[in-house]
Amino acid sequence: MPRSIVVRAAGEHSAPGAPVNTAGIEDFPASDLGEGPVTVEVNYSSINYKDALVLTGRPGVVRTTPLIAGIDLVGTVVESSSPRWHRGQQVLANGAGMSETRHGGLGALARPPAEALVALPGELTARQAAALGTAGYTAALSVLRIAQAGVESSRDEPILVTGATGGVGSVAVMLLSALGHHVAALTGRVDEFSDYLIGLGAAQIVDRQELGTLGRPLQKQRWAGVVDTVGGTVLANALAQTRYQGTVTACGLAASTDLPATVMPFILRAVTLAGIDSVQAPYAARQAAWALLAERVDVGALEALTRTVALGEAVEASAQLLGGQSHGRIVVDVSA
Ligand SMILES: NC(=O)c1ccc[n+]([C@@H]2O[C@H](COP(=O)([O-])OP(=O)(O)OC[C@H]3O[C@@H](n4cnc5c(N)ncnc54)[C@H](OP(=O)(O)O)[C@@H]3O)[C@@H](O)[C@H]2O)c1
Repeated sequence: MPRSIVVRAAGEHSAPGAPVNTAGIEDFPASDLGEGPVTVEVNYSSINYKDALVLTGRPGVVRTTPLIAGIDLVGTVVESSSPRWHRGQQVLANGAGMSETRHGGLGALARPPAEALVALPGELTARQAAALGTAGYTAALSVLRIAQAGVESSRDEPILVTGATGGVGSVAVMLLSALGHHVAALTGRVDEFSDYLIGLGAAQIVDRQELGTLGRPLQKQRWAGVVDTVGGTVLANALAQTRYQGTVTACGLAASTDLPATVMPFILRAVTLAGIDSVQAPYAARQAAWALLAERVDVGALEALTRTVALGEAVEASAQLLGGQSHGRIVVDVSA
């Protein structure tokens, strides 16, 4: 039976504020993986913010139990009744309900939704694709949206990336800089991580505190565009500081789900706020994002920001990520 990290309900008697679920390694029967035309032997998964919530038993992501965790997987097709996929092919999948309503990638075998499968781009190894994972793919969706809007940056008006040391932020900094943009990286850990962010291609470092207190509805125009991963006051200030006709993408809530903003940037500066969703993105968007990653990510830099843990270490790594003691990306070697 395939070894998997299985999430189970903690039970009715758990104390208020205590984890609502448990997550532990089990031998999960292959016959219970659910329906689907393609079965994948999983090599790698990863730990994203959402995985960290799931693996530490937080509410809001898992909607049915028992459930194999993991919103990402990279592996090899071992069975397929789909004309699109054949045995031996290397594939990846992100989101699409995995670890929410259907079994995910933190197990030796998976039956992911066929519509979420993307062929592993030839330029990337399985481990590199897992190192990018949902975080990288979401960064690519955000960067493609900025590109679609025709945003042009300069030294005086760079593109701001918030939560820059995180998974989405780190890859966004890398991609934007590889595309020739001037990137300003906003971080709460300036002393510790400025060199890291400059190494990824950031031209400027911005202390999170600068955008930490809610300012006026319209402020000095500083950013040509913004890739926001944190929400809350930072996003509200970023909108108020975006230049005329700039585009701001919003994918995350690492700070808050709130948006204490006004309509002023939209109606007086024609600023666009573009939502980014990786979970239900259609196949064409997934493929475009992965093509951009394969083409533009510096795999040497990616290696440097990635650490690999075994299946049995995934829960501890999740607690570190939520505790702000982590940066970059965490790959899970599912066979280790
Ligand atoms: N929409 C989608 O489909 C989608 C897909 C992937 C991720 N997401 C969301 O995007 C966000 C980032 O994901 P991730 O995987 O990059 O997470 P991550 O690796 O944990 O990075 C989050 C970063 O946010 C910053 N941060 C943490 N707490 C903060 C706070 N209280 N206020 C302001 N900044 C804070 C930190 O960066 P600094 O220390 O550098 O400031 C941290 O490294 C999460 O909310 C995640 O759920 C959404």
